[in-house]
Amino acid sequence: MESPQTALHSDSDRFLECLDHFLKHCTETQAMQDFIDNLLPDIMAKIGNGKSNLNVIGVGSGCGDLDLKILSALHHKYPEMTVDNEVIEPNPQQLRDYRDLVSQTPGLDYVRFIWNEMTAEEFEEQWKENKRTKKADLIHMFQMMYFVKDPEATVSFFQSLLNRNGRLLITLHSGNTGWVKMLEAFSKQLGASEEHRSSDHIKRFLDSKGVRYQSHNLPIQLDITKCFIEGDEDGELMLDFVTDVVHFSKTTSPELKAKILEFLRRPEVSVESNGKVLMNGDSELIILEQLT
Ligand SMILES: C[S@@+](CC[C@H](N)C(=O)[O-])C[C@H]1O[C@@H](n2cnc3c(N)ncnc32)[C@H](O)[C@@H]1O
Repeated sequence: MESPQTALHSDSDRFLECLDHFLKHCTETQAMQDFIDNLLPDIMAKIGNGKSNLNVIGVGSGCGDLDLKILSALHHKYPEMTVDNEVIEPNPQQLRDYRDLVSQTPGLDYVRFIWNEMTAEEFEEQWKENKRTKKADLIHMFQMMYFVKDPEATVSFFQSLLNRNGRLLITLHSGNTGWVKMLEAFSKQLGASEEHRSSDHIKRFLDSKGVRYQSHNLPIQLDITKCFIEGDEDGELMLDFVTDVVHFSKTTSPELKAKILEFLRRPEVSVESNGKVLMNGDSELIILEQLT
């Protein structure tokens, strides 16, 4: 008999285990490198005009891999510029890994790291309590908007911190993907307490407020081949990640599992290529400017 379902994102140990597996079996790292190579140069050109120091804030930065790539791109573009890099990350292990990565990475002397082991919401509370007024040139919130309590309030707060010419970058799963469609179709049966957040969610909010933004699709494929091999450990990690349920196979009835696996194979969700099942897991980048 199946036991109660727990949302994967609320179990940080299992989440990190599944995230690690997911990142090894999808093209997200490549998509973010393409973003750094093709979209970031234009964003950087706008934020850096006439400055000798940049204020950067990374929200939900994880273990910092992506943050360091962005800092390196900034340094390459503006070799004379110093950077104050404020890191907001509530998971202690992730933050330790980030600090270790910094200590092992040579040539970061142009960066002053400011560590905040806390959630975006706690950061906002402290910011207001301390009446801080520092403005930011670049704020990024990559794949973390699923975890905040009130995404609209979080977007509004961080947008309010932008300098003139500053940019706020947000990525989430794109609402058009088969992955999001599956999560929407089965949300009740998967025990989701609310609608799955996708870029559509944030764009609807911005549209309703008349806030201007730009958006770009970031194409990502997930190799979900092993999800279809009964009892395969890698397949179980991926299934937990894809369904956002801890130990999905153990906590879900065989009938529901069969229905979800059938959905994942539909042509609008995945393609088969060279014996692999590749699911569309595109993300969307939303770029916001200072509110005027
Ligand atoms: C999927 S990871 C993304 C990591 C990194 N930004 C990247 O794209 O590689 C999500 C991160 O958000 C963090 N997080 C969870 N809840 C948060 C919150 N309320 N405020 C800020 N960060 C949060 C998690 O600890 C995790 O490190």
